[in-house]
Amino acid sequence: MTLKKWCAILATSAATMTSAIAQSDFPPSASAKQEAPRLVEVMSMAQLEHLKLWYAGKAKNWDLAAYELRQLTNSLAEAAIYYPAIPVSNVTTMKEPLLSIADAIAAGDERKFVASMRVLTEGCNACHSSMGRGFIAIAVPTSGQPPANQIFQPLKDRGSNR
Ligand code: HEC
Repeated sequence: MTLKKWCAILATSAATMTSAIAQSDFPPSASAKQEAPRLVEVMSMAQLEHLKLWYAGKAKNWDLAAYELRQLTNSLAEAAIYYPAIPVSNVTTMKEPLLSIADAIAAGDERKFVASMRVLTEGCNACHSSMGRGFIAIAVPTSGQPPANQIFQPLKDRGSNR
């Protein structure tokens, strides 16, 4: 399955996401309790994947970038599956930038990769704002200290660096 197809399946709707996750290469043991991860766990993972995706793409390590994109798509799908209170529309708006990043990776197109990452990142923040979490401001990584893809200054002190 191509990366693009894979992303489309995951990102199209929360319903199809459920079956996609069930196809994970590493399913939990049968005896493991199917406890939902905390949403912040899923999101912290998404943050790390977003960070690695960026650096993999900047290094033109397209295999790694493709891998991180799949993990990130999976994390966003997990958030939607486990947390129905999150508006599905906020998740599905991530579909376009995810597919666009997949295209950029397939084409080895760094310029498109960077542009699509910015759109994706706006999607992260749009959902955070809509859910009363506007203070969790994600950015494409800067040269700052890790995690370099989050802005820690209060809103009032922020420049336009995201
Ligand atoms: C559809 C909605 C939605 C999208 C899209 C989304 N998030 Fe979140 N995110 C949330 C919510 C809701 C919380 C707050 C969870 C809580 O307070 O329990 C959150 C919290 C977080 C946190 C805080 C975790 C912590 O403990 O510090 C980080 C980091 C984060 N998101 C990263 C991201 C990144 C990176 C993306 C984009 C790749 C993203 N999020 C996209 C809804 C979303």
